[in-house]
Amino acid sequence: MVSPDAPFLRACRGEPHDRVPVWFMRQAGRSLPEYRAIRGSGSISEAIRQPDLATEITLQPVRRYGTDAAILYSDIVTPIEAIGFGVQVAPGIGPVVEQPFRSAADLDRIRPLDPEADTPYVLETVRNLVRDLGEVPLIGFAGAPFTVASYLVEGRPSRTYEHTKALMYTDPELWFALLDRLADLALASLESQVANGASAVQLFDSWAGALSPSDYVRYVQPASRKVLEGIGATGVPRIHFGVNTGELLTLMRDAGADVMGVDWRVDLDDARRRLGDGTGVQGNLDPVAVLSGTEVALDRARDVLGRADGYRGHIFNLGHGVLPDTDPEVLEQVVELVHAEGVVA
Ligand code: CP3
Repeated sequence: MVSPDAPFLRACRGEPHDRVPVWFMRQAGRSLPEYRAIRGSGSISEAIRQPDLATEITLQPVRRYGTDAAILYSDIVTPIEAIGFGVQVAPGIGPVVEQPFRSAADLDRIRPLDPEADTPYVLETVRNLVRDLGEVPLIGFAGAPFTVASYLVEGRPSRTYEHTKALMYTDPELWFALLDRLADLALASLESQVANGASAVQLFDSWAGALSPSDYVRYVQPASRKVLEGIGATGVPRIHFGVNTGELLTLMRDAGADVMGVDWRVDLDDARRRLGDGTGVQGNLDPVAVLSGTEVALDRARDVLGRADGYRGHIFNLGHGVLPDTDPEVLEQVVELVHAEGVVA
């Protein structure tokens, strides 16, 4: 059983604890030889549908690195795929949609999620993990409405989000209807993960940085708030993250986050100043620094710790996911350093 006093959970709540907790986004995955050995060649969706495999993949980085939290091995498109929208995660590309969302008729393709019936394999994985993780908390997650919408509307990963933003600007009524359904989907998924034992949640709005602050407030924040405030009722800590969101940090926090994930484009001391004392900060070692050898990685990890300056609400992480070419031994040393040299005031 996970204790509410696990360092990761205490840091999420800004309470005193004795070591800087650390975990890595995408800690499970292609950077690990043990992942490549058992992952198989099918699509990631097939791996996610096998609870024993998904459980083992989630545990691998916890075992190897001794991270202070595990993140469920699943994907942000798992719920929308489970209700039959027609999404495929293409290797090396990401989520691809055969018939993108473009008109009001497409709303009928997004029915409510019944997690027990639609994603029983996810919940079985969560229960397995809670059994096997012992003292290590499990982080459940979902994709935020904007980021999931961007895949559904573009049909594939995009740099400009042109179809998504055009829909938002030209047909706000349909846009809000779409985001509301995606909010319900994310909330139902998170609630089911928490009901089955996840100790914290992270809402990934990975691509929200494509928006100006005023567009974010108008077109996106209400749907994210629905998810974050909804899951707040369970009492678990809520982490919220997006890439390139330095200008949106306080706005995303105001959607209802307890902890903000910070990417590497903002210095962590600056992120703390922007957010003030009541909000946790998670991050933010540049994933590329980890590719640049042990010396660079450790130097820069020390810099992150220095900027966090003993803040109780700091959770060490990368500024985005572990890159596939990462040498796991370098990450092992980063974890060691954070645990040995990190100080909590
Ligand atoms: O350790 C973990 O974080 C594991 C769980 C996890 C995965 N995806 C597994 C995965 C999580 C939390 C995600 C979230 C996710 N998925 C996000 C938000 C996080 C972020 O990166 O900003 C996004 C945008 C996606 C969509 C997605 N799924 C992309 C862009 C890709 C990469 C495509 C590729 O092959 O490079 C995926 C596939 C995916 N999801 C992989 C993993 C380990 C790699 C493919 C595989 O092993 O088959």
